Amino acid sequence: FTIQNKTVSESCPSNIALIKYWGKYKDQIPANPSISFTLNHCKTNTEMEFFANEPFSVQTFLSGNEEVKFAEKIEKYFKNIEQYLPWILKGKYVIKTENTFPHSSGIASSASGFGAIAKCLMTLDEEFSGKTSEDESLRKASFLARLGSGSACRSLYNGLVVWGKSDEVEGSSDLFAVKYSDDEIHPVFKDFNDWVLLIHEGVKSVSSTVGHGLMNTNPYAERRFQEARENFVPMKEILKSGNMEEFIKLVEHEALTLHAMMMMSDPAFILMKTGTLEVINKIWDFRKETNLPLFFTLDAGANVHLLFPNDGSEEQIKSFIETELLQHTQKNGVVKDVTKF
Ligand code: PMV
Repeated sequence: FTIQNKTVSESCPSNIALIKYWGKYKDQIPANPSISFTLNHCKTNTEMEFFANEPFSVQTFLSGNEEVKFAEKIEKYFKNIEQYLPWILKGKYVIKTENTFPHSSGIASSASGFGAIAKCLMTLDEEFSGKTSEDESLRKASFLARLGSGSACRSLYNGLVVWGKSDEVEGSSDLFAVKYSDDEIHPVFKDFNDWVLLIHEGVKSVSSTVGHGLMNTNPYAERRFQEARENFVPMKEILKSGNMEEFIKLVEHEALTLHAMMMMSDPAFILMKTGTLEVINKIWDFRKETNLPLFFTLDAGANVHLLFPNDGSEEQIKSFIETELLQHTQKNGVVKDVTKF
């Protein structure tokens, strides 16, 4: 390889899992496969300046403000992936990132953040080590993103994405994510709203790193990993047939199971807030009354992701959200995203 000064810019969206990844082994190997939707609007834009042949150091800025803690994390990450990018420690980095969604809203930026960094690194790698095919480059970016933050590896692809070896998904791997075959997805899932209700803005009481770690001693962990693996069977069938009722049941079950695992950890912890539970109950009441396909998922936090198809019949759902659910958020906070592929 030959290195030189170079500035690259990349953008990467966030994603939300339908079958959740919670629990991992050494080297970021997931304890079970997961499947997610990649979002359209919640993105991280990253500019990476590389100064060749300077002593290795990393400086990071988030929306113009220097972030020393994040820089330390990136330095550690770069050292960790030197075996895959042999030039990576041979220079100095200035990394400027911006999220298109509100700062500290509680929307996880680690997936989009590490996705964008991995893409920048692959662009530099192609500059220094020579071009590879686009498929290969994406796969390597996904592999590198995984080592930064597990769920980030799914953000490299649009639409539905699988990470973790599953007998149900051909080509799936623990090492990188793969796109779920478009031919296997009913059109009803190809244009979906994901509105994030910002129930609680601010730092979580337990990080996802600590949360994953607590699965090591959770007496229900093995059963949960098995369940997640098994859930790929109905999920595959549902995605093909477009059975919305079964989809809703499975997606909500996955979200609640994730949080149940937290409650059964030692020490136990709860990331949901009162507003989270109020919103969930209101969604259930609304569905009982109207039979309309509004449902939820959760990530490792208090915010509620409201899911509903974009099929022209969503006006009643939107007005219900505005009149009944927004009051449970801080500052009427909602981030309106959508997945389209
Ligand atoms: O990528 P991490 O280590 O931040 O873990 C994220 C885990 C969940 O968001 C809770 C679930 C998932 O599959 O994305």
